[in-house]
Amino acid sequence: MRLTIKHIAQMAGVSNATVSRVINNRDAGVGEDTRQRIKQIIREQGYRINVIAKSMVTRRTNSIGLIIPDVSNPFFSDIAKSVEATAEASGFTVFLCNSDDTLERERRYISALGDRGVDGIVLVPASIGTREPDDLGFIVPVVLMDRPLSGRNVGVYIDNAHGEYLATELLIKEGHRKLAFCGGLRSDHNVANRFKGFRQACSDYGIEVNEDTCLFGEFTVQAGISHSEQIAVMDVSACVCANDLIALGLIAGLKKFGKLVPNDISVTGFDNILLSEINSPSITTVRQPTIEMGAIATRMLFDLIEKPELKILSKVFQTELVIRDSTRPFPASQPSL
Ligand code: RIB
Repeated sequence: MRLTIKHIAQMAGVSNATVSRVINNRDAGVGEDTRQRIKQIIREQGYRINVIAKSMVTRRTNSIGLIIPDVSNPFFSDIAKSVEATAEASGFTVFLCNSDDTLERERRYISALGDRGVDGIVLVPASIGTREPDDLGFIVPVVLMDRPLSGRNVGVYIDNAHGEYLATELLIKEGHRKLAFCGGLRSDHNVANRFKGFRQACSDYGIEVNEDTCLFGEFTVQAGISHSEQIAVMDVSACVCANDLIALGLIAGLKKFGKLVPNDISVTGFDNILLSEINSPSITTVRQPTIEMGAIATRMLFDLIEKPELKILSKVFQTELVIRDSTRPFPASQPSL
């Protein structure tokens, strides 16, 4: 037999309302002895709140969904930890879903989370797949992170173009004139804007971008390794990578072709995951404020859960260049600008 509040109240000799107040920590008017007696009975009897029954009354489950594209990428697991810490501090449970960056799985998770009555969703939109208009008709409040969706952009983002501009400008100021670019999927919003920042920095310093030295693929270590075969034989002295995983793979791959970083080629990353700091060489990268982003996105969602009609402005964070050992000045023989 499933224990209910009524059973606990009978055992404790109090009203159902008193037990409910103690369970929901709204027991200001309940005597200490009574509170302790109720809590002891709950422990002894192993009583657990019936979330479904409670949600039918409160229309809330105190739970949110978080959908990220790649749970194996430390950038997204850092985001997940921040969302979870912020949510738990407010008594919310987080259901973490990995979309594998595909719209098909994203749709499936949004539907499954809605069926389970989450109060809202923090969503990092998938890059792979064609969105239909009804894909934007979310059943619960949604806050976007990292990548906006056209027609719906309440969310938390960074200035991707400016971040990549800073990394590229560093290399140019260190005397590099022949630069390669290794991006994720070209269709990805953030990749397109980072590539834009790379090209803008080159243009501002009078450097022509050779499209043959601009490679695209996935945001993975494997992609960096596969790019290294081409980069190793290119006439370039530096490579701007659109995330740290690509940079890690590129550095490891180049070594197999006898190219050392930064001695032969300088390399920059993007994200500032822990691996970029502990790698040898440590990677010059662009820091994303993942902890702040996760916390702000979660609090935005709580505001929308409380007041769905709230008009919330998106938040765009600036990035920060973190200079480490994977870049060095081009040999002095290079003519200065
Ligand atoms: O590393 C994964 C990348 O995909 C990050 O730079 C993040 O911005 C996301 O777009």
